[in-house]
Amino acid sequence: MSCKLAVFVSGSGSNLQAILDATAQGQLPIAQERLDAEVVLVVSNRKKVFGLTRAEKAGIPTLYFPLKPYREAGKNRETYDADLVEKVSAYQPDLIVLAGWMHILSPAFLDRFPDRVINLHPALPGTFVGVGGIEWAYDAYQNGEITHSGCMVHYTVPEVDAGPVIARATVPILPDDTLDTFAERIHAAEHRIIVKATRKACERLRA
Ligand code: GAR
Repeated sequence: MSCKLAVFVSGSGSNLQAILDATAQGQLPIAQERLDAEVVLVVSNRKKVFGLTRAEKAGIPTLYFPLKPYREAGKNRETYDADLVEKVSAYQPDLIVLAGWMHILSPAFLDRFPDRVINLHPALPGTFVGVGGIEWAYDAYQNGEITHSGCMVHYTVPEVDAGPVIARATVPILPDDTLDTFAERIHAAEHRIIVKATRKACERLRA
């Protein structure tokens, strides 16, 4: 039986697209392997993001679920997370893939999906934690502090961008790189490891 995925995005959704391409019938990009999974829901905490457009184009149910109304009503993050659990549970996903989801999930969410939430981070384990993973690595290279960076997918724990690693890729930074060319190389690596890690996490659930 194919693995049911809920993919959470906050932006362009290029990693969502990599997953959709790998699960779709037909031609796959070179070096990409098929993923026996089905995206049953795409969630975004931001309204006008291309990730939602990609989902709609693929005919996948979407959920726009912003935190702001909760804040304005004086409700805490845990309440938001608990309500998100209810919404997402209705789709009965086997695995939740945080693919550029810029919102920290509390135990109110994570405890309801133990070992079933994985997160993509645009840096190697233990490095450049937070939202500026690519920029900070580029700056660190310019300052002579690192020679390479990378990306990883890990099981999600309450600590940000930490947790058991499922897949990782090292990405070199080259002397004539601009931030954009380096970012492109990171994204290309991400598109490979997000598919690989999703496959591994799905296989682990079946084992
Ligand atoms: C990716 O680079 C991902 O690693 C990053 O957001 C981008 C989403 O791109 N996530 C984080 O920084 C989380 N700490 P996409 O919307 O094109 O898939």
